[in-house]
Amino acid sequence: MTFPIERHRRLRRTAALRSMVRETILHPDEFIYPIFVTFGTNVKTEIASMPGVFQYSLDRLEEEIKDVIDAGIRSVLLFGIPEHKDAVGTSAFESEGIVQQATRAIKKMAPDMLVVADTCLCEFTDHGHCGLIHHDPVTGVADVDNDSSLEVLVRTAISQAEAGADIIAPSNMMDGFVAAIRAGLDEAGYSHIPIMSYSVKYASAFYGPFREAAQSAPQFGDRKTYQMDPANVREALREADSDVTEGADMLMVKPALAYMDVIKTLKDNFDLPVVAYNVSGEYSMVKAAAASGWIDERKIVMESLLGMKRAGADIIITYHAKDAARWLKEETK
Ligand code: PBG
Repeated sequence: MTFPIERHRRLRRTAALRSMVRETILHPDEFIYPIFVTFGTNVKTEIASMPGVFQYSLDRLEEEIKDVIDAGIRSVLLFGIPEHKDAVGTSAFESEGIVQQATRAIKKMAPDMLVVADTCLCEFTDHGHCGLIHHDPVTGVADVDNDSSLEVLVRTAISQAEAGADIIAPSNMMDGFVAAIRAGLDEAGYSHIPIMSYSVKYASAFYGPFREAAQSAPQFGDRKTYQMDPANVREALREADSDVTEGADMLMVKPALAYMDVIKTLKDNFDLPVVAYNVSGEYSMVKAAAASGWIDERKIVMESLLGMKRAGADIIITYHAKDAARWLKEETK
């Protein structure tokens, strides 16, 4: 009998051994938990396609923040559902806007909580696009105008910083948004506030449930003239490269699970922290399958998050954050 020359199973024999040689370890400090804040009072509405995720009005926000803290999460990402929408997304940049109010409220309740503000217009415009609409004078075809959108986005970012946001996370995919927002923040006295850029954001069907949660579905057309084609990865390098040049502090890839190669590509090519956004559709699929008893939710979630980290994500934005943090705590007990 010949013996195997290499015995990989030797290092898998006991739990302690496996733990000792484990290459990738998740930590709750790397998680960001998204929260949806809505106008009105006494609202806590579960999003039908995202069980366990709720829209909160400002007066109910404290119970969510307490739960986030209890779970051991130190960072939240805010999305707002405003009372009024218009063509230019005015409620995105008002000092009494829903995100601005929520930011101030959270910083008062929990000064150490990192508040990340999503800087986009789709939740605030009546047409649901991430920028301002321009009609082609010849064909009449509507599209999102880049440079006029930047002006509104800069105002939005400044108002979010004024309200106390610790990180500005622009997700609008206009060209030059990082440079414009960086200059705007610096001029307004917020040179210390980092920009977490949604650098590589694909035009993805995985955002479906989010658009219900944030009431931000485009009312006509789609986002393909500004979000990326899922087929492209070299273009992802160009997008990320622009953002680095323009002054981004972190680079995001979104969605995560179908784009692990893109996460890895960014990690290999840039030195900035890489963020993976484990988006709404990815969450909903796990929840639906788990509710049917077809998969083990806890194991599937932890394996997926581990995969994102192994692919190169330093930070993960996920609706599973509270659960995952609690499960990690249990494991270390
Ligand atoms: C805003 C924005 C979207 C998401 C995050 N920021 C929606 C979109 O681009 O349509 C999606 C997040 C998710 O699906 O969980 N532009």
